[in-house]
Amino acid sequence: MADAPILVTAALPYANGPLHIGHIAGAYLPPDLYVRYQRLRGRDVAFICGSDEHGAAIYMRAMQEGIDPQAIVDRYHGQIQEAFKGLGIAFDYYGRTTSDTHRETSQEFFRVLEKARIFNRKTLEQLYDAEAELFLADRFVRGTCPVCGYEDAYGDQCENCGSSLSPSELINPKSAVSGTEPESRETTHWYLPLGNIQPQLEEWIATRKDWKPNVRGQVGSWFNDGLSERAMTRDLPWGVPVPEGVDGNVDGKVLYVWFDAPIGYISATKEWAEEQGDSDLWRRYWQIHEDGTEPTLLHFIGKDNIVFHTLIFPALLMAHNEADESAPQWTLPANVPANEFLNLEGRKLSTSRGWAVWVHEALEAFPADVLRYGLAATLPETKDADFSWGEFQARVNGELADVLGNFVNRALSFTWQFYEGIVPLLDEPNEEDQRVLEALEEFPDRIGNAYEQFRMREAVQETMALARLGNKYFNDSEPWRTREVNPQACENTIHIALQITASLAVLMEPILPHSALLLREMLNLEGVRSSEPGGQGAPIMWEDAAFRLLSPGHILNEPAILFEKIEDEAVEAQRNLLEERAVASEIVEDEGEAEELEEAPFAPIADTITFDDFTKLDFRAGKVLAAEPHPNADKLLRMDIDLGFEERQILAGVLGHVEPEDLVGKNVIVVANLAPRTIRGLESQGMLLFAEDREGKFIPVLTEGEPGSTVK
Ligand code: 2FM
Ligand code: ZN
Repeated sequence: MADAPILVTAALPYANGPLHIGHIAGAYLPPDLYVRYQRLRGRDVAFICGSDEHGAAIYMRAMQEGIDPQAIVDRYHGQIQEAFKGLGIAFDYYGRTTSDTHRETSQEFFRVLEKARIFNRKTLEQLYDAEAELFLADRFVRGTCPVCGYEDAYGDQCENCGSSLSPSELINPKSAVSGTEPESRETTHWYLPLGNIQPQLEEWIATRKDWKPNVRGQVGSWFNDGLSERAMTRDLPWGVPVPEGVDGNVDGKVLYVWFDAPIGYISATKEWAEEQGDSDLWRRYWQIHEDGTEPTLLHFIGKDNIVFHTLIFPALLMAHNEADESAPQWTLPANVPANEFLNLEGRKLSTSRGWAVWVHEALEAFPADVLRYGLAATLPETKDADFSWGEFQARVNGELADVLGNFVNRALSFTWQFYEGIVPLLDEPNEEDQRVLEALEEFPDRIGNAYEQFRMREAVQETMALARLGNKYFNDSEPWRTREVNPQACENTIHIALQITASLAVLMEPILPHSALLLREMLNLEGVRSSEPGGQGAPIMWEDAAFRLLSPGHILNEPAILFEKIEDEAVEAQRNLLEERAVASEIVEDEGEAEELEEAPFAPIADTITFDDFTKLDFRAGKVLAAEPHPNADKLLRMDIDLGFEERQILAGVLGHVEPEDLVGKNVIVVANLAPRTIRGLESQGMLLFAEDREGKFIPVLTEGEPGSTVK
């Protein structure tokens, strides 16, 4: 049977700001690498994205700027599309959620679910801004946090202490739109009863054992907490209107942005199909075929979108399938390879604090491939990763220019210098020549396996490993010497070096599509399947890169430098730009625009306890013998602690705050008489003390006391 069609989606970016490198590393470069690889394999793959143009945030932003929300999304839709194009993120189709097709598709989806009585309709009190004549989304109510006393907490969350809140819990709530005190008004909404669907979701997720641990971890913790119902509609003048013809008054109501946005993947696929001249083609990628073939649906996203793609959207698809079992059934995601976050120069990326590298600006300073490489090598695949300009420069100069570029240039220049640009004959290769040719054969599958398993960084390393192999072979074979003493050996070396170069021109294409094209031109290598959208079955495919792609006598074109080194001044300029922006945004914040970390209050003092209460606690010094991530939870650290008289296993929710390896060997303080608890299948036999700073970061409390000593 032919391979199932693959549909790859990348999170629809909100069209209310430009893209930065964190977006790219999170949700766009990984699928682009993956899809380009699959196209070179000749697989039936469609790559879909588009702008997410609805939601309260966009509406509020428009109100603040005093313009139409459509003007905002028009502006950024164009800018975002340009940035993707500049970076070579090659979608088959880039849509937008303000399109007619999208409105019709999401309204129809809602209608089917409503008709099947999937939703619960509930009337409740919600905060209303009488001056702006607007129901307020939770985000747009600000007030004092009931947990920590922070005065500028959002209605859904306190940024200071991280507590999840509801607007009614805020003390002194104010509308972020008019600044007036909101009043309470009744309104009716349609709720998706996720709690009822949880058993079905759990059963389904249990079949997805190959998902990344960070994704499974988050999903597991949502299940543990128990899913609760979520409103799928909002009172807002911007969005897809709740369709007429359903029970209840739909006036002024729109679909919740997280209801319509994932359906945007479907509507964009429909528009793409239309563009291909086959309006039903989208079904092939979304619905189970009559012969039972199930398309492979892959959602590439950042970690903040996990719940929507692993639970809410699948729940909607499942409910739709159940609502009409005779209709074609939607496929559920085969995988959701979510990435963690990218930090910048050791700090969290923050657009409001000016701590970001904008794609359109970076493209003015560096070639797209160089940026792609720098990001691909630092993708936050398993945990948050850090992008620094220094490391970027080192990689580009030390790897792209010195290894890949240098090798290719040596092979091509030598051929021009001594063989008039003609591929020499391979004759009676020696052992080393044969070993290298055999090694070459393994690369396409080795690199391919890494892509198939969403291990993009590994794919990058393996691709560079081929260039390293070529470079070392060229050095060790010393063609400049053998040319005099053994001309055939020299020809063999150059022949093989050119074959490796040609294979590289194919295998590097997902990462470095523009340079791959240049290299193919230099090699005069025609008939390679392109990794661009619609690349049609030309003779040279990914797997052909295992073998010799160039015939003896083949004429090359003139070589050119593939990668320029990055000068110190260029990265210095980037660092300065970053610092200037950060300073500028601090000045704005100092003028009272936004909250500053330094001004965040400390946590309030807890209730008083008696001395007897205190003496009940048995604190001990302990030494961390081992520390590693909990296998089934994304924030938990599992540690073995030596208490002098015994060893304990202790779990702590501090991953992301400390590096496990930094804790090993340290003497910490343990609450040793706490009743054991089982968390995600592992028993925690005590607790470790951490200081929590005002940013909510945990820092271990260390001691010089020997393991076992009491701490008083
Ligand atoms: O987080 C975001 O940027 C959202 N706009 C992602 C939406 S993904 C999808 F479901 F459309
Ligand atoms: Zn708080």
